[in-house]
Amino acid sequence: MERKEFLNLVGISVGAVILQNCVSGCTKASDPAPAAVTPPASGGGNVGGGNAAVVGLTGNNLLSKGVIDFTIDLTSTTFADLKTNGKALVSGDVIIARTKTGDFLVVEKACTHAQTTVDYNADKNNFVCNNHGSIFDSTGNVTNGPATKALKKYNATFDSAKNTLKIA
Ligand code: FES
Repeated sequence: MERKEFLNLVGISVGAVILQNCVSGCTKASDPAPAAVTPPASGGGNVGGGNAAVVGLTGNNLLSKGVIDFTIDLTSTTFADLKTNGKALVSGDVIIARTKTGDFLVVEKACTHAQTTVDYNADKNNFVCNNHGSIFDSTGNVTNGPATKALKKYNATFDSAKNTLKIA
């Protein structure tokens, strides 16, 4: 290989590496900052995912098994997160949230856009899908797309004497 040919080859290679690094790493001052990701309030686990043996859960919390109708024992450690205002958890096919003022909200967990599990945002008292950004209000109605269909809302009845929550 001639010296000139070698230098041309090296020059092309170095240029390609610099271009690749710049394309993947260079930003302009005018580029928007990346959107903040809301940390999931619900943790990401699924408490009592339809298993009848789960302590503190009776009834059905899975759509595949019929109508959602179940009761949870709030004294059970399984559902301990719901003792704290502003917390939420997923159980079966629903997400159960306790608002900052202590009320209970229950909606289907699957975003109506592409079925990603939604999270509860206690500060805004709404449900957020971090997949494509859909937002649902506390009753499940869409306030920001791309989802266009509301989340199904379930009734949550708190029995203070028994410390149970019936969801149907
Ligand atoms: S899956 Fe929820 S916004 Fe797309």
